[in-house]
Amino acid sequence: MTNHIAVIKGDGIGPEIVTEAMKVLDRVAEVFGHTFEYEQLLMGGCSIDAYGEPLTDDTIAACKRADAVLMGSIGGNTTTSPWYKLPAHLRPEAGLLKLRKSLGLFANLRPCVLYPELRRACTLREDISEQGFDMLIMRELTGGLYFGERHTEPVDGVMTAVDTLKYDENEIRRIAIKAFEVAMKRRRKVTSVDKANVLDTSRLWRKVVEEVAKDYPEVTLEHALVDSTAMQIVRAPAQFDVMVTENMFGDILSDEAAMVTGSLGMLPSASLNETKFGLYEPSGGSAPDIAGKDIANPIAAILSGAMLLRYSLDMQAEADAVEAAVKQVLADGYRTGDIMSEGCTRVGCAEMGTLIAERVKKGA
Ligand code: IPM
Ligand code: MG
Repeated sequence: MTNHIAVIKGDGIGPEIVTEAMKVLDRVAEVFGHTFEYEQLLMGGCSIDAYGEPLTDDTIAACKRADAVLMGSIGGNTTTSPWYKLPAHLRPEAGLLKLRKSLGLFANLRPCVLYPELRRACTLREDISEQGFDMLIMRELTGGLYFGERHTEPVDGVMTAVDTLKYDENEIRRIAIKAFEVAMKRRRKVTSVDKANVLDTSRLWRKVVEEVAKDYPEVTLEHALVDSTAMQIVRAPAQFDVMVTENMFGDILSDEAAMVTGSLGMLPSASLNETKFGLYEPSGGSAPDIAGKDIANPIAAILSGAMLLRYSLDMQAEADAVEAAVKQVLADGYRTGDIMSEGCTRVGCAEMGTLIAERVKKGA
């Protein structure tokens, strides 16, 4: 059977890290006897340059035809790139948001794990990092501030900008269910993060999450405020298992959680709808400052490939093999610059991909 994977390499470091993820997927195909067929598509800044818009209808249609989408990153330097002189709806990020919405990808899973080998790259104090942590951020991805009505206009002669934060109970329920479902396969704890001391959307969020929790009596539910959670992530990250939160809080907290694992370059993500279809991308950005220098860390992209195998293609053994290969390469002392520590061997993006691909084997 042939699996069709749509590939959006994107901008900045996207092309180089996705090339390494494909190298690893090709190795999986070889070892496990699969056929992966790739269709390369443009989205983001490169699509603006080619077609004058960040996401074309053809790209959306091609993604819908595929079994899954593997993505790199999009966007450029927001102060210097000409893409940011365009009206907001024609900028690279608008393409990504439209793609998420068009594909109905409401659930964004961002697993943040501190690998024992990377404890020295962790930015936290040693007494905290030595406890390790393994949390999964379940970020709502197609609602909230990102998709609410927005405009900028003069009101009584004063320029005024408005963004709208809106959630209905169905949007909250479906992401809460996803969170409890994954928690059942993990350590059975859900932390629901909100700002219920101020926001109406958060008060509704709490109420709906409480209702969903009744169907999962084995899962412990706790509510936490977003500001306090930001503090707890650096104070005691080991306390978290599954964290479920709205779109913007999830965007912010996942960068923070990623950094305490050692580097943004380590954090994969899966964006899912109600079916098996999904889009897989590193949680970090396009890092235009280091693009094309062969120094980016491809591990987040490679681990996103593992999530693609696991969630969209039902290939658990294959996903395990990729994750084991990443652990092995770290245990063997190879590091890209962002996670480098003394006594390790520094390698570039392409070499890291090759080293991981070589370590993919059956029965990992
Ligand atoms: C992310 C990114 C995007 C987001 C940007 C590029 C629009 O930061 O995936 O976390 O804010 O969702
Ligand atoms: Mg982000």
